[in-house]
Amino acid sequence: MTEISYKRFGLDRTELLKKIQQAMSEKRFQHVLGVEQACIELAERFDGDVEKSGLAGLTHDYAKERPDSDFIKIIGQKNLDPQLLNWGNAIWHGVVGAYIVEDELGITDAEILEAIQLHTSGKAQMSKLAKILYVGDYIEAGRNFPGVHEAREAAKKSLDDGVAFEALHVLTYLTQQRKKIYPLSLETYNNYVGQ
Ligand SMILES: [Fe+2]
Ligand SMILES: [Fe+2]
Repeated sequence: MTEISYKRFGLDRTELLKKIQQAMSEKRFQHVLGVEQACIELAERFDGDVEKSGLAGLTHDYAKERPDSDFIKIIGQKNLDPQLLNWGNAIWHGVVGAYIVEDELGITDAEILEAIQLHTSGKAQMSKLAKILYVGDYIEAGRNFPGVHEAREAAKKSLDDGVAFEALHVLTYLTQQRKKIYPLSLETYNNYVGQ
């Protein structure tokens, strides 16, 4: 594992790891370590900000195991779009979870927080960092689902190829399961896949 420092953001990685580990299952902790590494590699490959990418990867699922009541409370407290109440943990842990990351882990970088907000859905115009996290979350070394090999191959070509592969597969899965599609997920599909 590449040793990386987050001192530039006023953060000590060891301290951060402690807080993150306490907030989640061992399985998820291994996942976020994998995403940190995947994001670092994508940043190295595509000339991104390596430290920002690693930090986004490490913290992106920090809020994932919070109870729904925490997210619902924050949606009210921070005056977020009330439409968010129609969704659930899959959307909340990113969109709302970024506020928890900011408050509890002390991450203030707006680009990192936005990447965390978008990590499950993407959106039409994503920053390079948001693409790195969206893709890194999907292809980290611990992932093992049908199609992950192709996803990794797509992510070797370009970040946009990686985003497109994932956006198509997410949408295919959601429609097959007759699940609701979050509007930003559709935006990502239309912008990166649809012609
Ligand atoms: Fe997530
Ligand atoms: Fe994740």
